[in-house]
Amino acid sequence: MTIEAMRPEHLGEVKALLDTCFGSGAWSADSIRAQLENPVSRCTVALKNGAVVGFLAFEQIAEEGSVVELAVHPSCRRQGIARRLIERAITFSDGLHTVFLEVRAGNLAAISLYEGLGFERIGVRKGYYDHPREDALIMKKQTERSWKYEDTGYRKQL
Ligand SMILES: CC(C)(COP(=O)(O)OP(=O)(O)OC[C@H]1O[C@@H](n2cnc3c(N)ncnc32)[C@H](O)[C@@H]1OP(=O)(O)O)[C@@H](O)C(=O)NCCC(=O)NCCS
Repeated sequence: MTIEAMRPEHLGEVKALLDTCFGSGAWSADSIRAQLENPVSRCTVALKNGAVVGFLAFEQIAEEGSVVELAVHPSCRRQGIARRLIERAITFSDGLHTVFLEVRAGNLAAISLYEGLGFERIGVRKGYYDHPREDALIMKKQTERSWKYEDTGYRKQL
């Protein structure tokens, strides 16, 4: 299994993967293309024998990152692919201090993945998702200290 930056030629396979994982709620091909071309976004794919089996869209603006979309093909789950996609995105993000994400409150597989990666639940958006209507959990992970003077009491003086 390899992880690579997504290229335009992966678009069809990424679309098929998202259709498999999200059904009618999947991004359109235009949305995937827009994400690929978005300058603040990095799209990565996991490839197995040359075929796309995982996809991550990760955005970073200044020191704040967000997991925008994540999917692993059902035939390749529980092999650490999602964990590697996220760890790699965080490792290769310069100056990243915090990562946020939203996840369906009932998506126990994804919540377990994120908690295992050190994300904490920080809030709930009531009825955020449609089809079916469901709350979103907001999760956050600190990747570095954003307040380098915290230990000295400097922050309290601000
Ligand atoms: C959520 C998803 C991306 C996980 O992908 P994955 O490659 O299977 O995840 P990993 O193998 O990296 O799992 C890492 C850890 O997450 C947790 N985890 C993953 N799937 C789990 C499940 N079905 N049940 C419980 N825990 C799970 C486990 O702790 C796992 O470690 P372990 O296998 O050593 O126990 C995948 O199930 C998926 O594509 N689901 C549909 C789309 C989706 O929900 N995307 C996320 C939207 S926020």
